[in-house]
Amino acid sequence: MFKDLFSLVGRIALVTGGSRGIGKMIAAGFLAQGASKVYITARKAGPCEATAKKLTAAYGGECIALPIDISTLAGIELLATEIRKREDRLDILVNNAGAAWGADFDEFPESGWDKVVNLNLKAPFFLTKALAAPLRAAASAERPAKVINIASIDGIFVNPQETYSYAASKAGLIHLTRRMALKLIKDHVVVTAIAPGPFASDMNRAARDHADEVSKRVPSGRIGDTEDMAGAAIFLASRAGDYVVGATLTVDGGVAFANAGIKGEGWAE
Ligand SMILES: NC(=O)c1ccc[n+]([C@@H]2O[C@H](COP(=O)([O-])OP(=O)(O)OC[C@H]3O[C@@H](n4cnc5c(N)ncnc54)[C@H](OP(=O)(O)O)[C@@H]3O)[C@@H](O)[C@H]2O)c1
Repeated sequence: MFKDLFSLVGRIALVTGGSRGIGKMIAAGFLAQGASKVYITARKAGPCEATAKKLTAAYGGECIALPIDISTLAGIELLATEIRKREDRLDILVNNAGAAWGADFDEFPESGWDKVVNLNLKAPFFLTKALAAPLRAAASAERPAKVINIASIDGIFVNPQETYSYAASKAGLIHLTRRMALKLIKDHVVVTAIAPGPFASDMNRAARDHADEVSKRVPSGRIGDTEDMAGAAIFLASRAGDYVVGATLTVDGGVAFANAGIKGEGWAE
């Protein structure tokens, strides 16, 4: 009964932004748990294909690159069409591709708003909608399909960095997750989110290049690693997470709780 609780054997998944960072950690974890196919996307074809090749060689299943920019509705439709051409059903969608922008409040440009909100908040909604048919086709009461949105602890507590559109997009994504979950659960599609803390990546260069410094501000005393992120995503994607509906799982070594007061560590004023 419990043997296959975390198994993903035979599942077909799509992880946006799977060429590197957190998306790659999740794609690797799914393949390691037996997923038969994991599609990954990114704008840059070279790194996307290189990662797909590497993950296919490392694990039993197949990792397939679909290099498509999903910052526009046209790109989202193109990706959904490519998936629908190849698959009748999609068991797991991970809305992970994201971007950040930091600028002084008085200088913050509209482009820094649109780029971030379009990719972090609008794309997860419209990609899920565009893939609703294969997700519903995969879903049953016994084995629901899964949508996992990658939010951030910046959507839970106020990060002192001036990343206004990022913070708003991630807080919005956490609430969008709840709203979509209550709609799609009727079709046995379970929607949840993960709110990561610091993980080494191109986006989080501080965690990547100054892990020791960043670790001092993490109650766990370290930044997150591949197993931490893969473990959370595997839990939500597998049978083990079937009854977790609309919730956001914080995976941050305690950072959000440590900063839950009015004046979190790092505030300059
Ligand atoms: N790392 C952290 O500490 C941390 C913490 C909290 C939340 N997160 C969230 O985790 C997610 C992944 O972040 P990361 O740190 O792994 O960042 P990353 O290393 O910059 O990876 C971002 C991924 O998204 C792809 N991407 C970016 N723009 C895209 C677009 N328009 N269309 C398609 N793909 C696109 C990138 O590939 P291309 O550049 O080739 O397009 C790459 O594969 C994001 O949603 C981020 O907000 C990260």
